Amino acid sequence: MDSKPSVQNPVITPSATLKESASFPIGNIVSANRLSGSDNYFRTLLNKEFNSITAENDMKMAAMFVGPNTYDFSKGDAIVAYAKANGFRVHGHALIWHASIPNWLKNYSGTDVEFEAQVEGYVKATVAHFAEAKTTTGESVVASWDVVNEHFTNDAEAAVFYNRIGPDYLSKCFTWAREADPDVKLFYNDYSLGSNTEKATKVTNMVTDFKNNAIPIDGIGMQMHVDYQYPDLTTLTSNVTLLKNTGLLIHFSELDMTVNKDKSLNSLTSQRSNAQKERYKNIASLYTNTIPEEQQFGITFWGMRDNDSWLLNFTNNPNEWPLLFDSGYNYKQAFIGFLEGLNN
Ligand code: XIL
Repeated sequence: MDSKPSVQNPVITPSATLKESASFPIGNIVSANRLSGSDNYFRTLLNKEFNSITAENDMKMAAMFVGPNTYDFSKGDAIVAYAKANGFRVHGHALIWHASIPNWLKNYSGTDVEFEAQVEGYVKATVAHFAEAKTTTGESVVASWDVVNEHFTNDAEAAVFYNRIGPDYLSKCFTWAREADPDVKLFYNDYSLGSNTEKATKVTNMVTDFKNNAIPIDGIGMQMHVDYQYPDLTTLTSNVTLLKNTGLLIHFSELDMTVNKDKSLNSLTSQRSNAQKERYKNIASLYTNTIPEEQQFGITFWGMRDNDSWLLNFTNNPNEWPLLFDSGYNYKQAFIGFLEGLNN
């Protein structure tokens, strides 16, 4: 439903917008369809509060790489055009991800050498294509790419990139992306980096290895699909510290927050809402205070309204309220908490 129910009690009216309160870009996800659809509330809120956008799905491999040497950039182009017209930065997501491989490539019958040539061609064509749109001051609208998403998982090791190109597919993809655009920021993106120290260490080891071998990398995306209680702030802070000590840019790239994992609630109680507010506050202030300004790439939320969230499907729970706005586009306490965190 895209109409705006007006019920909210009490009405929450923030004293400032996110983008004017943060010293770094604040992002959200979009789709080409939604940007051109009839839902004005979405665009109004997006333009008011945010200054960075990521395609939720439209700039993934399965959406763009439609056949051998064949690309469909139309939805990405629509997103970039919107960004250009409305002053947003675009963060590209994601060139290589085991969960978004087009079937024809998954089942590719050519040799491994031919397979690798397809992937190389795709990375280079995509990065080069999206480097074309420039702002009025001459910078690329698409400032950055998640080059590889979620490598440190069993699924990725089982996927075709690893199996057909080899363990160095990672460094090859970063190198190809850099060859296609000398300026775009190149990110490695993954989940659980705030909770799983072993995994975060694998990422820092990868960065060291890249640096030792002159492989380009500019940033680390911590997805930040968190829970209102987990991970604890101490672990989160120490993992953020570990990752920022690489000296790379740090992006909280997919922030959202489950509050009802045990499915005990069937509405967001004021008690749970306050716990979520406090937690969003802590995360905003952690990012602001732990990461040096020159390494602050930004914080991107993975969704606008609670009922837009991918988590409802993913956790198979319609009673989740992970985001800053309720289903009627009303500001939640979570928003106020996050805003407060940005300011201290
Ligand atoms: C999710 C989208 O939100 C869903 O619409 C889609 O069905 C699956 O992908 N980690 C990522 C994101 O890096 O790309 C995922 O997005 C969420 C988990």
